[in-house]
Amino acid sequence: STVLVLNGPNLGRLGSREPDVYGSADLDELRALLRASAPAGVTVDLRQTDDEAELIHWLYEAVDAGTPVILNPAAFTHYSYALRDAAALVTKAGVPLIEVHISNPHARETFRHTSVVSAVATGVIAGLGFDSYRLALNYLTTPR
Ligand code: DQA
Repeated sequence: STVLVLNGPNLGRLGSREPDVYGSADLDELRALLRASAPAGVTVDLRQTDDEAELIHWLYEAVDAGTPVILNPAAFTHYSYALRDAAALVTKAGVPLIEVHISNPHARETFRHTSVVSAVATGVIAGLGFDSYRLALNYLTTPR
């Protein structure tokens, strides 16, 4: 089985972008960490885009293939109703989607306190650095 790990705008700059907030590790290190912690037989397909349309199309892919999603919508979290509607397609199809954040948006600027995605996500994990993703992967790959 596969888990899609989708990352929104500016997360391609992880490692050099605000390391005080996001740490100094980059997306390749995140991919390696997730692959190392995935159970045998689980493929971690980690992608990043700055493009809202591309992210939405990846969510359609998840709906059509029934692939569980870990989504860090980055700044789209706070204002993209288009992304929210696409995320709703995933969860309404019965496919789990976990919203994750590296930082804790609630401890930051007021505009980050609102997520337009959370209400349609299966669950939300924030503020734990890369462990936010690792714990989401653990949830999605735990048989229940
Ligand atoms: C983020 C938090 C967002 O507010 C911000 O726009 C990001 C990253 C996080 O992972 O902490 O780009 O989603």
